[in-house]
Amino acid sequence: MRISAQLEARLRELGAELRPAASLAEHTSLGIGGTTDEILLRHYETVPKIMRLLAEEGVPHRFLGGGTNVLVDDGELSFVVLHMLTSALGMHVEGNAAYVDAAADLGATVTFCAKHDLGGMEGLIGVPGSVGGALRMNAGAYGTQIGPHVREVELYRAASGEIESVRDSEIRFDYRHTSFAPEDVMLRVKLELPSQPFQEILAGIKVCNEKRRSSQPLNQKSAGCIFKNPPGGSAGRMIDELGLKGHRVGDAMVSDRHANFFVNTGQARCVDMLKLIDLVRERVRGAYGIELENEVIVWRN
Ligand code: EPU
Repeated sequence: MRISAQLEARLRELGAELRPAASLAEHTSLGIGGTTDEILLRHYETVPKIMRLLAEEGVPHRFLGGGTNVLVDDGELSFVVLHMLTSALGMHVEGNAAYVDAAADLGATVTFCAKHDLGGMEGLIGVPGSVGGALRMNAGAYGTQIGPHVREVELYRAASGEIESVRDSEIRFDYRHTSFAPEDVMLRVKLELPSQPFQEILAGIKVCNEKRRSSQPLNQKSAGCIFKNPPGGSAGRMIDELGLKGHRVGDAMVSDRHANFFVNTGQARCVDMLKLIDLVRERVRGAYGIELENEVIVWRN
């Protein structure tokens, strides 16, 4: 979708920049996605005004975080994409509290906190993406989830059109799901973390990195796990048991390393990945009577 020169000028007045005809394939870890104008924001205080402006102009839009858990449609997209740029000053620590911009990289946040002798998030070290994406999805790995460490979230609340602060007691963090509305935009978070010596945290980080390296296709284009695990089960194990590793539709393939990772081996399109997702879901339904739910977020046109 293209933004008019007039709207571009108004966005610039609000401190935003335009990246015209951006390829979402270049901004997502799956390397899949069509083109659209991308609006780059530097200051989260401008979010309400920019959202209001886009609403007034009737411009459909989506907010892109790290782009590591999203499968974007092919071709010319029917919505523009907003993306918040990170700032080097986006994190600081006060006692056991870490204040972090949602646009910050999750791994960099874990390391930053570790350097301040704040632990508890080692399991999240290899989870790619932004802190905002991790908050929205309640990202987790190796027994750690971000939710329990959250004390307060500053967000753009779509329902009120304002920036609001929300205490942890008002947020529900479930398995890869939270009570935030899909249109809410994460802006900043206050985490509370246990004190722990840096060397100890580092040892934990190394263990998690090693586990991840030995079981996940880290050097291939993916969005992490495609499906949520069903209660008490493992999507990866079921797909593996069905002999679907290496199964492909075009260049979209079930990883031969971890069966819940679907990888783009070359020029995979969204339509290929969706066909592969449907095919695997059907096979699992047929064999186990379980309906797998997407973990990856799909942006259709
Ligand atoms: N397994 C297989 N074959 C496979 C993959 C897994 O048999 O191809 C078996 C493993 O041997 C193990 C079990 O399935 O016994 C579970 O596998 P794993 O430990 O890799 O964990 P997972 O449940 O598949 C979850 C998260 C990952 C996270 C890991 C590590 C989900 C959907 N996935 O995977 O998160 O990194 O645990 O804690 O909850 C993600 O969210 O995108 C993600 C990758």
